[in-house]
Amino acid sequence: MGFLEEIQRRRTFGIISHPDAGKTTLTEKLLLFGGAIQEAGAVKNNKIKKGATSDFMEIERQRGISVATSVLAFIYKDKKINILDTPGHKDFAEDTFRTLTAVDSVIVVIDVAKGVEEQTEKLVEVCRMRNIPMIVFINKLDREGKDAFDLLDEVEQKLGLTVTPLSFPIGMGYDFKGIYNVWEKKLNLFSGEKKQTVSEGIEFNDVTNPELDTIIGEGPANQLREELELVYEVYPDFNQQDYLDGKLQPVFFGSALNNFGVKELLDCFIDIAPPPQPKMSEERLVDSKEDKLSGFVFKIHANMDPKHRDRLAFVKIVSGTFKRNAPYLHVRHNKKLKFSSPNAFFAEKKEIVDESFPGDIVGLHDTGNFKIGDTLTEGEHLNFKGIPSFSPEHFRYVNNADPMKAKQLYKGLDQLMDEGVAQLFTLELNGRKVIGTVGALQYEVIQYRLEHEYGAKCTYENLPMHKVCWVAPEDAKSEEFAEFKRVKQRYLAKDKQGQLVFLADSAFTIQMTQSKYPSVKLHFTSEF
Ligand code: G4P
Repeated sequence: MGFLEEIQRRRTFGIISHPDAGKTTLTEKLLLFGGAIQEAGAVKNNKIKKGATSDFMEIERQRGISVATSVLAFIYKDKKINILDTPGHKDFAEDTFRTLTAVDSVIVVIDVAKGVEEQTEKLVEVCRMRNIPMIVFINKLDREGKDAFDLLDEVEQKLGLTVTPLSFPIGMGYDFKGIYNVWEKKLNLFSGEKKQTVSEGIEFNDVTNPELDTIIGEGPANQLREELELVYEVYPDFNQQDYLDGKLQPVFFGSALNNFGVKELLDCFIDIAPPPQPKMSEERLVDSKEDKLSGFVFKIHANMDPKHRDRLAFVKIVSGTFKRNAPYLHVRHNKKLKFSSPNAFFAEKKEIVDESFPGDIVGLHDTGNFKIGDTLTEGEHLNFKGIPSFSPEHFRYVNNADPMKAKQLYKGLDQLMDEGVAQLFTLELNGRKVIGTVGALQYEVIQYRLEHEYGAKCTYENLPMHKVCWVAPEDAKSEEFAEFKRVKQRYLAKDKQGQLVFLADSAFTIQMTQSKYPSVKLHFTSEF
């Protein structure tokens, strides 16, 4: 198969949802269709169970499983599908944000009863900002839930999307009879009692056909006709370009657990979802069809075995062919590196591969060379954009608890930050180190890993801050900026890249500061 065909057949995407909406179940059903696994239950649930905050075994278990499920690949109808895992737990949200820089599209899973939840809102916002094509899957139709139209309204309003249903439910919960597949103009029927599919999809172009009454009953048939009329009236027609541009989001209904509506979703997905897309670097736009290799690190995973400090760096290939043992330029270090055992991912296994193509993810063994955002090329100095740090929401001073092990502590902190576990800030005034995280769970992970992998001990001290803002003065030499720095001295710090940040104790402080020093811009992400 030629290089261009290899690109065209790849679909690299992520599934995002609030925990418990059914992401794991849907992933598993997709893998079953691809023949990548033989039975349900094969993809281990990688979420941290509720109340596991202080259970280190649970954290370790989760780390182990998440290596295995970081990338799940399978072939379906000759398409190579790469699903990138996005942790649903909010304490790991930053991991998910970074993974979203490596996907070409996403599927958003929503629970029919719970509707749009907090975590979905945050993740969809990131996708919207980047115009990532999104398909919405409304799950758990076998249960009583919200009215389909109310739910579509909610999705539009809370998520700021423009939706068009490509399937529509016939009944719900106990009365759930199936869906009408608007995309393929087919009826898919479902037995609520036996919890299984009754039909493989009956061609049904014209719902006014009286045969519909015989198949699903007169009442439901009339209701469906009315509802579909409304669907055609209210929602825009599906237009692939609008979907690809992030302007229109098709919606499917189904039940992942009962494998209902999943095949329809997958069949439509492989038809409409984009192959590997061009990616912007600081220097230029890089097209996936270029023959020279380029790729970037979007995730780093530490080894499970604390005695071996090697890590696995996950590289998304943007252009060209990645070849085993070929020399590639590590742009930040300006150094050529060769990789003798790059891993590719297939179903829930990883194996050494000779060649990988745009859209694929390769796992590279790393002894500390990589950090998130690093770029590999065949020689060109490219730096891929779009792996920003987001403002953490929890802040603690970190103190060294074992004076003999200061070196180990700083090395450990440095490497854990490169992995993207948390962010480290150094206060300008006194050089104290502050760790900022998205969730409280990370502090325990850091403390545990420092001790077990680096032999260092730390303690924390709470720092009641609201957010950090990255500081960008319009004029670095202005009197206003000088005054800002003088007045806010106690709250200024540097991030790991040496960028100036302002630690704000409340939203009010940010507002006041912004109005007092209008030429000093405050940003909530490190890229602006
Ligand atoms: P997540 O990865 O998004 O966190 O969700 P996950 O797939 O683990 O699903 C969360 C719960 O919802 C699971 O039940 C799962 O069985 C259930 N579920 C998923 N899809 C459907 C569906 O279509 N219909 C119904 N009724 N339930 C669904 P659990 O009891 O929390 O876990 P388990 O003991 O079944 O694993």
